[in-house]
Amino acid sequence: MSATTNPALLPMLILIAAPRGWGAMRVAQERYVSVMSWVEHVRAGRLIGNLLTERTAAQEVRIHSVGPFLLSRYERMAESAEAEQERLASSKAVTEWVAAALSGVAMAVTYGIMFWLIMGGHMSLAVAGTAVIAVRSGSASLGALVMNVNQLHEESLYVRDHSRFLDEATRRTIPSGGDPVPARVRQVTLDQVTYRYPDRADPALDEVSLTLPMGSVTAVVGENGSGKSTLMKLLSGLLLPQVGTVRWGDAEVASLDRSQLFDRVALLTQDFQRWPVTAAMNIRIGRPAHEAGPEDLRPSVDYASAGPVVAKLPDGLQSLLARVFRGASELSGGEWQKIGLARTHWRSSTAAAEGVLIVDEPTSALDPQAEIAAFDRIRRLASPDLAVVLVTHRMSGVRHADRIYVLHQGRLAEQGSHQELMAARGRYAAMFDAQAAQYAPAPTVPHPAPPTVVDPA
Ligand SMILES: Nc1ncnc2c1ncn2[C@@H]1O[C@H](COP(=O)(O)OP(=O)(O)O)[C@@H](O)[C@H]1O
Ligand SMILES: [Mg+2]
Repeated sequence: MSATTNPALLPMLILIAAPRGWGAMRVAQERYVSVMSWVEHVRAGRLIGNLLTERTAAQEVRIHSVGPFLLSRYERMAESAEAEQERLASSKAVTEWVAAALSGVAMAVTYGIMFWLIMGGHMSLAVAGTAVIAVRSGSASLGALVMNVNQLHEESLYVRDHSRFLDEATRRTIPSGGDPVPARVRQVTLDQVTYRYPDRADPALDEVSLTLPMGSVTAVVGENGSGKSTLMKLLSGLLLPQVGTVRWGDAEVASLDRSQLFDRVALLTQDFQRWPVTAAMNIRIGRPAHEAGPEDLRPSVDYASAGPVVAKLPDGLQSLLARVFRGASELSGGEWQKIGLARTHWRSSTAAAEGVLIVDEPTSALDPQAEIAAFDRIRRLASPDLAVVLVTHRMSGVRHADRIYVLHQGRLAEQGSHQELMAARGRYAAMFDAQAAQYAPAPTVPHPAPPTVVDPA
């Protein structure tokens, strides 16, 4: 090929490859947008699949006929996903058709130019033959290059998402390191604390101040959603307030080494984890780094009155509490709660320094007698080295607390001892009376009056 024909054919090669590059890029973009907007749909589909086979859902799936209902939802979701795949495929076909057509036109123009060069005597037939081969192999190689570049582009879209995710994770993760938590802490205080969840307009806690002295029992009451659990997350250092301060002694939580802080907190919540391990490990896991034999756990088992529960198990403390395995045992909700209480005792009794015990609605699955006993026990955990915080809406459990705080819509509505709050006849007294009335002896419940017939005329 003569040197003069080379430069004329080079731009044509690019014109042949460019439409294919554009097409591939467009298809990749469209695929990416589709994946992104359908990802929740795909997850929901998997979720439904799991719900249909999960043990915890089995009762309602059968008795409430949730099975066919979920299946019909699943079918509808599968149909809409299929429609989206069809839309993607036809859009891809159109794009590729346009790209191929443009590329074909460029190829035709290239051959046209060569024909014109030959006719004009600017190019010999031999050179033209070589040029045809060069154009064909050149455009094929360029096509492959475009495809590879495009694949890189498509992958980079996901890599970009991944690095955004990593940045976000770094931003949110609890930082390691910080000041040591003071060894002697006489009290934990919240000072004008406000916390708003990122996706909420109203704060879950609004300018709340309270003090938890070591050796005392503090109760926090309030209706559902009043901010009690949020308060506990702030106390334990899981969350940091946006406004105000949480202090352990004189040290502000925001500057403290959070892992040291967690070490000083014991937690028992309503939805405490039911670990799929042995009963013994379910207790020991309250402080897993602390070695323990079955005898070491005995005081915790006794403390929680979990002895009869363990005695019923086929291998005692060594019984596996994970129904997913053959031969494992299952406990009832109330029995689990006793194991949870034993775990909390184990954690508190192996604590090396002063700390806080947070108990958040612990008795919901207990029968009334067991509930009274559990509150009693939780109070007994209070020691000079421990501040106990009891969150509950069962008013019977709070009357013996040293101090009671009443939360209402994220704000501190009332505080005082049981007697003071009852005398104030406010929100607390109303809640207490309402619950006391539920347990009132039968004769005080009024019988419905016989219906009076009103003459319509
Ligand atoms: N993780 C969360 N993200 C967003 N909002 C939340 C979250 N947890 C709780 N909330 C909201 O904060 C408010 C207080 O919740 P919470 O502290 O759990 O109340 P309580 O324990 O008193 O029932 C509620 O309106 C609840 O919907
Ligand atoms: Mg709660």
